[in-house]
Amino acid sequence: MISKKMTTALNAQVTAELYSSYLYVSMSAWLQAEGHQGAAHWMSLQAREEIYHVIKFYNFILDRGGQIRLGPIEAPPAKWKSALEVFEQAHAHEQKVTALIDSLMTLAKSESDHASEIFLQWFVTEQTEEEANTLATAQKYKLAAGQGAGLFMIDQELAARTLTVLVKDALTGVPPTAV
Ligand code: FEO
Repeated sequence: MISKKMTTALNAQVTAELYSSYLYVSMSAWLQAEGHQGAAHWMSLQAREEIYHVIKFYNFILDRGGQIRLGPIEAPPAKWKSALEVFEQAHAHEQKVTALIDSLMTLAKSESDHASEIFLQWFVTEQTEEEANTLATAQKYKLAAGQGAGLFMIDQELAARTLTVLVKDALTGVPPTAV
């Protein structure tokens, strides 16, 4: 049986993952409006990936007999100075999410909640990738230094992203698919 404290903390993470998606939808919209079509596509898939993180937590809470309690989601920013700033802020955001996951892991360990610990292990690994992806793209934008040819190449690269969904969709029962 999952503890009340852990259920509350996992529910807070559901809300945090929803905010991540909300933030990346806003970033995608700004990138699209500014002509960074490939980056907008990349960020749109990132927003969708966050929804699958939500579903993973959602499924886990219900599977352990906990209840879902959704919290309010604040409005994300809507304007950035450049694509570089977008990815720098996405990277900073992912670092914050990593800290949240680390806190959940610390709680799971303190409660000897082995199921939660094993579940959270996936997110610990995932966060390394999330940080690395946004950092690598920010570094590329920095190297391009706002020059047209470099920006175009980065945008082409980001346009090629695909997303493989590896979790069962709790709401629709849709099996794993590539989107
Ligand atoms: Fe859900 Fe981007 O971490």
